[in-house]
Amino acid sequence: MSGTATLEIDGKKYEFPITVGTENEVAIEISSLRNVTNGVTTLDPGYKNTGSCESAITFLDGEQGILRYRGYAIEELAEKADFLEVAYLLIFGELPTREQLQKFHRDIKEQSIVAEDMKKILDGFPQAAHPMGVLSSLTSALIAFNPSSVNVDSEEEMYKAIVKIMGKFPVLTAWTYRKRAGLPLDYGDDSLGYVENFLKMMFKKPHSEFKRNEIVSNAMDKLLILHADHEQNCSTSTVRMVGSSHAGLFASLSAGISALWGPLHGGANQAVIEMLEAIKADGGDTKKYMAKAKDKDDPFRLMGFGHRVYKNFDPRAKIIKTAADDVLASLGIDDPILDIAKGLEKEALEDSYFVDRKLYPNVDFYSGIIYRSLGIPVEMFTPMFALGRLPGWIAQWREMRLRKEPIGRPRQIYIGETLRSFKDIDHR
Ligand code: CMC
Repeated sequence: MSGTATLEIDGKKYEFPITVGTENEVAIEISSLRNVTNGVTTLDPGYKNTGSCESAITFLDGEQGILRYRGYAIEELAEKADFLEVAYLLIFGELPTREQLQKFHRDIKEQSIVAEDMKKILDGFPQAAHPMGVLSSLTSALIAFNPSSVNVDSEEEMYKAIVKIMGKFPVLTAWTYRKRAGLPLDYGDDSLGYVENFLKMMFKKPHSEFKRNEIVSNAMDKLLILHADHEQNCSTSTVRMVGSSHAGLFASLSAGISALWGPLHGGANQAVIEMLEAIKADGGDTKKYMAKAKDKDDPFRLMGFGHRVYKNFDPRAKIIKTAADDVLASLGIDDPILDIAKGLEKEALEDSYFVDRKLYPNVDFYSGIIYRSLGIPVEMFTPMFALGRLPGWIAQWREMRLRKEPIGRPRQIYIGETLRSFKDIDHR
């Protein structure tokens, strides 16, 4: 498709160019709409039909269940690549050579030291504070210790900011967990891979050696890859939006972490396990909860079901489901929560309410089950998502700045009071 789209308002016709992406997605470019129509705008709450940018990072086809990073199928990346390779691919656009990957890892390790004073900030949080709030605050606090703003026109400065956050973020995530678990803060081991090192930083006990477990680190690697980017979702749009005011990378990421926290977005992985636990505690009656999910007077939703974009299946969920089965089998875990999950899944997939609305299990329905079997506590599930999404956020922020996108500033349709006179306080 090419050419223009015609819009008629009050008998007057306006032409708008049509843009077609490399995967033949079609968009009507309306950036001149207000000017040419003298003030008419579009209204699209939740941006269900609004393309906010052109991007070369991730392609997603919700109808066909396709997800690709920089043109590579998620299935292939999850099988053949490791998380750091995928991070490099997302951020810089191409798979790294061996030398590029080694340098990337070396530079990340060099930048992984976090200022000792950050520990005082962490100390100020109550032990029970939710890790996502702590992580967002710590990421923002990093700015105070790295105050120079990044000159985005300098490739070198951009690269330095990227390896800095890739190095420090896993440390902050692990420290957030350790503080909550009452464990001493520590660094990992530079001789380990990125993901294995993260696991060591999380789980090393002060009195014993950290035992490497290949099943655990492979599963974690895969989970991080599956979460690494997902085009213009809520947190990514937040990162781009905040960055569009030329706020720095760390400030933009901190805002993205807050957006991810919500139970309708990244927080769903925690909400899924809490829901399954509640169903178990309530006698395991999945039918009762299916009925609640369908009852419009009940706010309960089946967490881990439905997706704004995937209306057929979530390709990440497919990969993760197999991985969950493998991990549970290899670790010899028999989890009653998994039986409830399987029961709910079966019922929902056969129920006309879910079928008609195209509500399928999403990535978060299974990721929590794997995290749980890997010994990750439930309140750390969303921080795991954040760690995985980090390269995607960075890639999107970098792209937005390099493309010199304008500041994000949507319009509205005002529906409040029209002009009225001020009433003195004695006459209200
Ligand atoms: N349980 C019960 N009903 C649902 C659910 C659900 N999980 N999800 C959607 N619906 C119903 C909804 O009530 C509505 O029904 P009706 O047309 O009768 O009013 C219809 O399906 C369409 O829902 P919607 O809220 O308009 O869809 P959306 O695209 O705005 O929302 C969603 C997508 C993911 C927020 C939503 O499906 C949801 O709340 N799911 C549960 C939370 C969850 O699992 N989130 C993780 C998403 S995947 C991870 C990520 O990428 O962040």
